[in-house]
Amino acid sequence: MTGKSSLADGPPPNVHLWSREGFLGANAIGLQPGYTPDYESVEGLHAPRRLAMEAFVTADMSDPDALPTPILMCRTHEVTISVSRRREPMAFTLRNVEADELHFMQRGGARFDTEFGSIEGGEGDFVCIPRSCAYRMTPLSGELVDVILESAGAYRFDTPAPFGMINFGMDLRRAAISPMPPQMEPSAAGHHVLVLKALDGLTRFVKPVDPLPAIVRVGGETPVWALNIAAVQPVSYGGLGGPPAQFLTTPRAETLLYTLSSRQSKLRPPVHHNADYDEFILFFRGPGSYGELDQPGSLSHVPKGVTHHGPTEDVPEGYLAWLLETRATMRFTPEALAQAKLMETGAYGVHPSER
Ligand SMILES: [Fe+2]
Repeated sequence: MTGKSSLADGPPPNVHLWSREGFLGANAIGLQPGYTPDYESVEGLHAPRRLAMEAFVTADMSDPDALPTPILMCRTHEVTISVSRRREPMAFTLRNVEADELHFMQRGGARFDTEFGSIEGGEGDFVCIPRSCAYRMTPLSGELVDVILESAGAYRFDTPAPFGMINFGMDLRRAAISPMPPQMEPSAAGHHVLVLKALDGLTRFVKPVDPLPAIVRVGGETPVWALNIAAVQPVSYGGLGGPPAQFLTTPRAETLLYTLSSRQSKLRPPVHHNADYDEFILFFRGPGSYGELDQPGSLSHVPKGVTHHGPTEDVPEGYLAWLLETRATMRFTPEALAQAKLMETGAYGVHPSER
């Protein structure tokens, strides 16, 4: 089938890896006579799929009062993945009281005005708005596609060394307080709506003053930051292959974020299944491709325990992509499921049954 004929390492026997804790725990490796990622058909929710994020229609495209549209959720509410394609500035202020929000600017850009200053995110940027930090977002172009990774656990940097993978001094930007634009001055007339977002719904406060304007930060560190995917260096092992290294994690490693951009790596990953984590890969852009994920904004989902292989990451033309691992068992929302396609797990193309 697709994965084997185009990209497998060689003839049988095939290496098969079972691993705990993502890439960090116990593992066992065996040889199998057949190519085990292939499947002829599948019924049920726990199946690999892919979704074209740039074509996904969201509620906030046409309704400025709408919130981003969830596309993937889990039973524990540990993680939610949503998409915003907002066309107008938010007319309300939002404070997510139960999750950190990591916004990935797949297309276009946006300015985030927060209680700790403003920051702009452009294409390929992650913008982190931590739990209980209020913000308003203004799209900077008419084609915004913002993929939002909400996590109940707080995101923190977790690079293998304090320098090297990310040049924090040069590439990590933090929100800055600047002279207030007229609409943010405290004297601006009118009522201000502050929406607190919790798991069980929205609570709407009407305030006499705008909750965002700040004069100066007098302590601590600004918790709102931005970082481009191109500024996160993939870790390689003298060109032989090996697991990627995360750059962001949460307190009990419920969620880990990696760059999966092209790197020197003679060996393709082994056929494997990941006992503890669901895996998401977002292909940001080429010119090269990650196997059959070649359209910017393609998101793949391999649920935990599903056997998969994955293409080579040694692509000389280069590409940029990220990998999210989460302990949560994620399910597409009905709207997203209707647009998602079953995926083969060799090269991550659309499964033959859906072509
Ligand atoms: Fe994997």
